[in-house]
Amino acid sequence: MSNVLSIDDVELDGRRVFIRVDFNVPLDADGHVTDDTRIRAALPTIESVLERGGRAILASHLGRPKGTPDPKFSLEPAAQRLAELLGLGEVLLTDDCIGDGARKVVHDLRDGHVVLLENLRFHPGEEKNDEAFARELLKFCDVYVNDAFGAAHRAHASVSALPRLAEVRCAGKLMQKELAALGALRTDPATPYIAVLGGAKVTDKIKVIEALMAKVNAMFIGGAMANTFLAARGYAMGKSLVEADKLALARSLMQRAEDAGIELLLPVDLRVGTSLEDSSATVVALDAVPEDAMALDVGPATEALFEERLSHARSVFWNGPMGLFENPAFAGGTLGVARAMAASGGFTVVGGGDSVAAVQQAGLADRYTHVSTGGGASLEFLEGRRLPGVEALAS
Ligand code: 3PG
Repeated sequence: MSNVLSIDDVELDGRRVFIRVDFNVPLDADGHVTDDTRIRAALPTIESVLERGGRAILASHLGRPKGTPDPKFSLEPAAQRLAELLGLGEVLLTDDCIGDGARKVVHDLRDGHVVLLENLRFHPGEEKNDEAFARELLKFCDVYVNDAFGAAHRAHASVSALPRLAEVRCAGKLMQKELAALGALRTDPATPYIAVLGGAKVTDKIKVIEALMAKVNAMFIGGAMANTFLAARGYAMGKSLVEADKLALARSLMQRAEDAGIELLLPVDLRVGTSLEDSSATVVALDAVPEDAMALDVGPATEALFEERLSHARSVFWNGPMGLFENPAFAGGTLGVARAMAASGGFTVVGGGDSVAAVQQAGLADRYTHVSTGGGASLEFLEGRRLPGVEALAS
């Protein structure tokens, strides 16, 4: 980061400041934003640009619209929420992110005012990292700011090609905060350092598990991913989600953890159900999963075990729920981790949509050192990979 400028070091007064934000937020069936964490997280940068007399031109993707306009993926709900958060009557949303309409709106924009460009992914050039598309965006950009940590692992035009073309490029306040918190875990974590990993598939987490093995003292595995590890240990998992082709991989990861002296903690009991909609859970021992049941959460003894270990941790990174937490019957393990981490008093970082949602739901976000807005980006960063969006900011 030493060769990346901060927004604080750049002259903004009277300039068109193109801010790449990550407003890829969840929407309900009526198109309302159900979690505005990412919009709130971008406010310090946006407000700083407006206060310093800049003209803020915000750009983001939302969903995966396949390179063509699709009203389902309009940024309109994000524009509305942003207007509320900024205390404005309205935040203007252009009908397209490039072209004459957008050009006119940006041309008429006054100092201290803000506009949001429509979804970047309505153009195929965005995901192709197309230079011609980036040059269209460059027309709105005296200063380029990247505050979209959540999209920094994507080599897309607004994240990669555009900043390389921009005369002045810098990191926004959220980007700086994310890199500082996750960077501390990557370079110099206080120990004991515990990683808590959940989610559905071992396949999605294999690289981060391997990378974290070089850093952590203990690793907790929960969520459906734990079923594959338990099956690899010989437990019959009934109808639980198990990646049958990953049993050998799970065994080798357990062996490697043992060889490296890392404590790999799996659930010691489970909450099971026969359908994802069950309104109550049955707690069972590992060797007592009924043939017609699925493991949908870790059990209370596991919760207590994780809680006890987390109380001694000085650094914790958490990604992925411990169970099907959107159903309250199977939310206990995830909320238990959320509470135990908040109480630990250590350096605590949570990343990934579902685990962050659980922390928000429990009202605990302000008890964490850092709540990352990046799911995939935070994992790739902790894997030690270079993020295209950060690389492109270097001078
Ligand atoms: C995310 O939600 O992780 C980021 O916004 C990136 O979105 P993507 O996975 O669709 O590229």
